[in-house]
Amino acid sequence: MVLLQGVLLSALAATGLASPSLDVSGRNSARQAAGYSPKQPPLKTPWTDKVGTDPWPEHPRPQLQRSQWQNLNGVWGYQNASSLDAVQSPPVGQKLGQEVLVPSCLESGLSGIQGVYTLYSWFSNSFKVPDAWKDQQVLLNFDAVDYEATVFINGKKAGFNRGGYYRFTLDVTQYVKVGQQNEVLVFVHDPTDDGDYVIPIGKQTLRPSHIFYTPCSGIWQSVWLEAAPKAHITKLDLDANMDGQVNMTVHTSAVNATQNVVVTVHDNGKVLKTHSGPSNRPFQFNVESPELWSPDSPRLYNVTVKMGSDKVQSYTGFRTIAKGTVDGVVRPILNGEFVFMFGTLDQGYWPDGLYTPPTKEAMVYDLKVLKELGFNMVRKHIKVETELFYQACDELGLLVIQDMPSLRPSQRKTNPDDCSSSPILPDDQQQAEFARQLDVLINQFKSFPSIVTWVIYNEGWGQITDYHPEFELTDRVKQLDPTRLVDSTTGWYDHGAGDFSDNHHYANPQCGTPFYSASSSPYDDTRIGFQGEFGGIGSNVSIEHLWNNQAAIDTINQTYEIDETIDAWNYRSHFLLAELQDQVKRFACSGGVWTQTTDVEGEVNGLMTYDRRIKRVDEDQWKKDIQGLYDAALARSNTTMSAS
Ligand SMILES: *[C@@H]1O[C@H](CO)[C@@H](O)[C@H](O)[C@H]1NC(C)=O
Ligand SMILES: *[C@@H]1O[C@H](CO)[C@@H](O)[C@H](O)[C@H]1NC(C)=O
Ligand SMILES: *[C@@H]1O[C@H](CO)[C@@H](O)[C@H](O)[C@H]1NC(C)=O
Ligand SMILES: *[C@@H]1O[C@H](CO)[C@@H](O)[C@H](O)[C@H]1NC(C)=O
Ligand SMILES: *[C@@H]1O[C@H](CO)[C@@H](O)[C@H](O)[C@H]1NC(C)=O
Ligand SMILES: *[C@@H]1O[C@H](CO)[C@@H](O)[C@H](O)[C@H]1NC(C)=O
Ligand SMILES: *[C@@H]1O[C@H](CO)[C@@H](O)[C@H](O)[C@H]1NC(C)=O
Repeated sequence: MVLLQGVLLSALAATGLASPSLDVSGRNSARQAAGYSPKQPPLKTPWTDKVGTDPWPEHPRPQLQRSQWQNLNGVWGYQNASSLDAVQSPPVGQKLGQEVLVPSCLESGLSGIQGVYTLYSWFSNSFKVPDAWKDQQVLLNFDAVDYEATVFINGKKAGFNRGGYYRFTLDVTQYVKVGQQNEVLVFVHDPTDDGDYVIPIGKQTLRPSHIFYTPCSGIWQSVWLEAAPKAHITKLDLDANMDGQVNMTVHTSAVNATQNVVVTVHDNGKVLKTHSGPSNRPFQFNVESPELWSPDSPRLYNVTVKMGSDKVQSYTGFRTIAKGTVDGVVRPILNGEFVFMFGTLDQGYWPDGLYTPPTKEAMVYDLKVLKELGFNMVRKHIKVETELFYQACDELGLLVIQDMPSLRPSQRKTNPDDCSSSPILPDDQQQAEFARQLDVLINQFKSFPSIVTWVIYNEGWGQITDYHPEFELTDRVKQLDPTRLVDSTTGWYDHGAGDFSDNHHYANPQCGTPFYSASSSPYDDTRIGFQGEFGGIGSNVSIEHLWNNQAAIDTINQTYEIDETIDAWNYRSHFLLAELQDQVKRFACSGGVWTQTTDVEGEVNGLMTYDRRIKRVDEDQWKKDIQGLYDAALARSNTTMSAS
C-alpha cells in the first residue's frame, strides 16, 4: 500500500496543478518496486513503450478545472472474481493477487493482465488526502469504468455507477480520513455481450471477428481526486453562438439553492466580459463581436466561473450549427454558411491499449494526420473518448459527429453459428437504460464546441423496428440539446426521423442521389443528404504491421475490397473520392465519412495501419481530392440561404 502511494505521488508530481502543500519526496523510489509489467500485445505502436507507470497525467476535465486535484492513475491491485455475489464481500485491507495499470482495458497488453472473460473484477489502491483539504469536500472522479462499478472507501460502500463510457463523481468526504491513507476498492462487472445482456457496447464483443473487436473491461479512463467547497460547481452547460450570445447553466451541489455566480470571459489575459447570474438556472449574456470558431479558424476563449469560494476554469468557442436551404437543397450550416463535412470513421482503437490510447500524444497524432490531409470532421464511431479528445478537436478545428455507443447488433445471434436463434433486441427496461445513457452522453459532452451532430442509431444495431423509437429519442436529444443537429439513424432503417438522410454504401458512395441500393433508403430531400459511411477499401500488410492474432488474420478477406498494392489502393481511393465529388456537383450531397482512420484488428482498411507506422495515403493526391470536395460544395453555395 505504501508503494502504491508512491505511485500516486509520482503521478501527482507530473501534474503542474498539484497542490503545492503535498510532500512529494521519495516519489522515484516506488517505480521499480511495482510488480506490474505490461504484457506483449499482438502489435505495438510507437507509444507503447512510453506509457510507463504514470499514464495520462493530464487534468482530464478541461471544461471544469480546479487547482486542487490529485491523479490516482498508476499501478493498482487487481483480482479476478467469479460472480456478482463477490461484491457482497469486499477484500477490505487485503493485498490483491495481481497488479494492473489504471487506466487500461483488462484485455489490453498495457494493463499487464491481458485477460479474457474478465467479467467480474476487483481493483484496489490507497491514497492520502492532503491536510490542506481538511475543511473541504473530497470528490472522487472515475472518468470511465466499463460497465458497472461499485466503489468502497475504507470498507464502506461509497457509490455505484452503470454505463461504460461516462464520468461519475462521488463525494467521499464522509468516508475518508484527512492526512492518512485511505483504501479504495472497486468491484467491476462487465458482461459485454455475454448471455442475454443488451447494453451499450459499441464494437466490443466477447467473440471478436472481423468488424467486431476485443472488448474493454474495467477502469479505462483516469481516476482522480479533487477538493471543493461544500457548495460547489458540479457542471457547466456552456453554449456560445455566432451572435456572441453565451447561454450558460452553472449546476451546483446545492441543486435547489440559487446562489450568485460570476462568469468572466478572457482572451489571452484580457477580460472581455464579466457577468453575474444565478446558479442552477440558464442565463444569457453577450460578448461583443467575438472571433468565431470554425475548422478553418478554431478560435477559443477562456472562461472562469466563481461561486463563493469555488473557482473553476473552462473555455468555449462561438459558433452556430443549423440546418438551412441553400440553392434549393437542405444543408448543414455553420456560422451562416453551408459546411461540407468530410471526415473519417474514427473508432479510437489501439493495438496496445484497445479503448485507452497509450498516451495523449498518440491520441492527438491521429487527429493531426486527419487535419493535415484536409479533413474537417471526425465521426466518433459508437465509442466515447476522454474529454481531452474533444478538447483536441476544439483546438485543432475538427467538427465531431458523435455516435451513441450501440447495443449489440440485432443481426448477431446468441450463438453466431446458429442461424435459427432470434435476433437480440432490447426489452423495455434495456431500451429505457439505453435512453438514459444517451441523456448522460449529451449532458456530459454538450459544451464542447467541436461537436456538431449526435447520432442515435448505427445501421439498425439495437434499433427496435416494430415501432420507431428513433422519433421519441430524437425529440429527447433535441430537448436536452437544441443547439446541435441529430442524425437519428446512420445507415439502414430510416423512417424519416432527425435532420439527415444518411446512406451507407461500400465501396462507392450514393450521397443525396436519385439512386440507392436495397439495404438503404431513397434520398429524402426534406433532410440533409449525407454519406455516413463509404470507402472501406483495404490492402493487406506484412505481419509486422498486423494484429497478430490468427482468428483476426483469417477474417482479412472479409474486407469490402482488397487492393494488391498501396498504389492500387490510392488509385481506387482517388476514383471513389472523384465519384463523391461528382455527386456533390450533381446531386444533394452535403458530406461524407470515409471508412476509416486506421486498421482495426482484422480490418485492414485504414488510412493508416493499426500500429500507425504505415500511412497508405498518397498525401498530395488525397489533399487535392479532399479540397476538390470543398470546392464542389462551395460552387453550390452561391445563392441566398433560408433557415429552417
Ligand atoms: C476470471 O475468471 C473467469 C471465471 O470466473 C475465467 O473464465 C477467466 O479466465 C478469469 N480471467 C482471468 C484474467 O483470470
Ligand atoms: C439556454 O439553454 C437552455 C438549456 O440548457 C435552453 O433550455 C434555453 O432555451 C437556452 N436559452 C437560449 C436563449 O438559448
Ligand atoms: C430538491 O427539491 C426537490 C423537489 O422539491 C426534492 O425532491 C429534492 O430532494 C431536493 N434535493 C435536495 C438535494 O435538496
Ligand atoms: C487559455 O488558458 C490556457 C491555460 O492557461 C492558455 O494556455 C491559453 O493561451 C488561454 N487562451 C486564451 C484564448 O486566452
Ligand atoms: C479467406 O481466408 C481464409 C484464411 O486466410 C481462407 O480459409 C478462406 O478460404 C478465404 N476465403 C475467401 C473467400 O477467399
Ligand atoms: C494477409 O497477410 C498476412 C501476413 O502476411 C497473411 O497471413 C494473410 O494470409 C494475408 N491475408 C490475405 C487475405 O491476404
Ligand atoms: C457567385 O456568383 C457571382 C455572380 O454570379 C460570381 O461573381 C461569383 O464568382 C460566384 N462565387 C462563387 C464562390 O462561385
